[in-house]
Amino acid sequence: MKLKTKNLLTLAELSPKEFLGLIDSSIKIKKELKKGISKPLLKNKTLIMIFQKPSTRTRVSFEVGMYQLGGYALNLSSNDMQLSRGESIEDTAKTLSGYTDCIMARVYDHKLLETLSEHATVPVINGLSDSFHPCQILADFMTIKEKKGKLKGLKIAWVGDGNNVCHSMMYGSALSGISMSIATPKGFEPDKNVVKETKKLTKIELTSDPTIAVKNADVIVTDTYSSIHNNDPKRIKKFLPKYQVNSKLMNGAKKNAIFMHCLPAKREQEVTSSVIDGPQSVVWNEAENRLHSQKALLVALIHG
Ligand code: CP
Ligand code: NVA
Repeated sequence: MKLKTKNLLTLAELSPKEFLGLIDSSIKIKKELKKGISKPLLKNKTLIMIFQKPSTRTRVSFEVGMYQLGGYALNLSSNDMQLSRGESIEDTAKTLSGYTDCIMARVYDHKLLETLSEHATVPVINGLSDSFHPCQILADFMTIKEKKGKLKGLKIAWVGDGNNVCHSMMYGSALSGISMSIATPKGFEPDKNVVKETKKLTKIELTSDPTIAVKNADVIVTDTYSSIHNNDPKRIKKFLPKYQVNSKLMNGAKKNAIFMHCLPAKREQEVTSSVIDGPQSVVWNEAENRLHSQKALLVALIHG
C-alpha cells in the first residue's frame, strides 16, 4: 500500500483508509510470519534509528523488523553523533539521506522531527516525541482489532496523564470511528489543539472522573504518570489513588473490556498487578504487535 505522506510524525498525515489499511496489513504480516512466511520486501534497504531517549520495545522491534524484511537497521544515540556538538538537524538530515532509505527518531522536542523530515529526502518516522507516539497506536489499534474484531463504534477510556500516547490514541480514534473518554486530573488534560482537531471526527469526552470514563468502555488504557520528558516523582501525588486502574475501576467497564498499556509500566501506581497481570490485560500482545505494525509501516513508506 502506497501512502500519500512521506513521513509519519503524528498519524494526522494518514487518511482513515490508509490508517485502517495499515492495521489490516499488520495483521496479515503477523499471520504470515506465524506460518513461517517472511517476504524480503526491504532487501538491501536500510533504516537509521536515532535515540535521544531510552527505549526497549521501539528499538528492538524496528531492528528485528528490518532484519525480517531483508534489510538492515543502524542504531545511533544522538550523544554519539555530531548533533551533540552542535551540528544542525538540517545538515544531519541531508547527510543521513545519502546513506539510508528511512530515518526513525525518538526525540524530546517534536519540532526537531518536523525539521528533520523537512530536510531529509527519505521518510522520517516518529519513534516517540514529547507530544506524540504514532507507532504505539498502530500496534494498539491492531491489537484492538484482533481482540474485538472491529474498531468502529468501540469506546476507549483513557485514565491518567493526557500525554504523548494519549494524543496519538486520540488521532487513531478519530481515524477509525472510536469514541474516547479521557479522565485526567486538572492540569493534565491532553493538548487543546489535539482535542479540537480530533473532536471534528469523533466523540472525545474530557472528564476528571475515571468512573465516568470507564462506563460502557470496551478498552481501558493508562500510561505512566511520569514520562521520560517530565520525570518527576512528585507528579504521582496528583494521580493517586483516584487515577489508578485497579480491579474496581475495571469492573465499571464492559464485562469483556480489555486493558492496555504501552509499557514500561509502574505496577501499583497507574495500574495494579491484579489488572496488568490479570485475564483482561493484552499488554504482551500490544508489545509484540509493535513488530508487525512497524513492518507494515516500513513497507508502506519505503517500498510502497
Ligand atoms: N512503548 C514503548 O515505546 O516502549 P519503549 O520505550 O521501550 O520503546
Ligand atoms: N509516555 C511515555 C511512553 C513511553 C513509551 C513516555 O513518553 O515516556
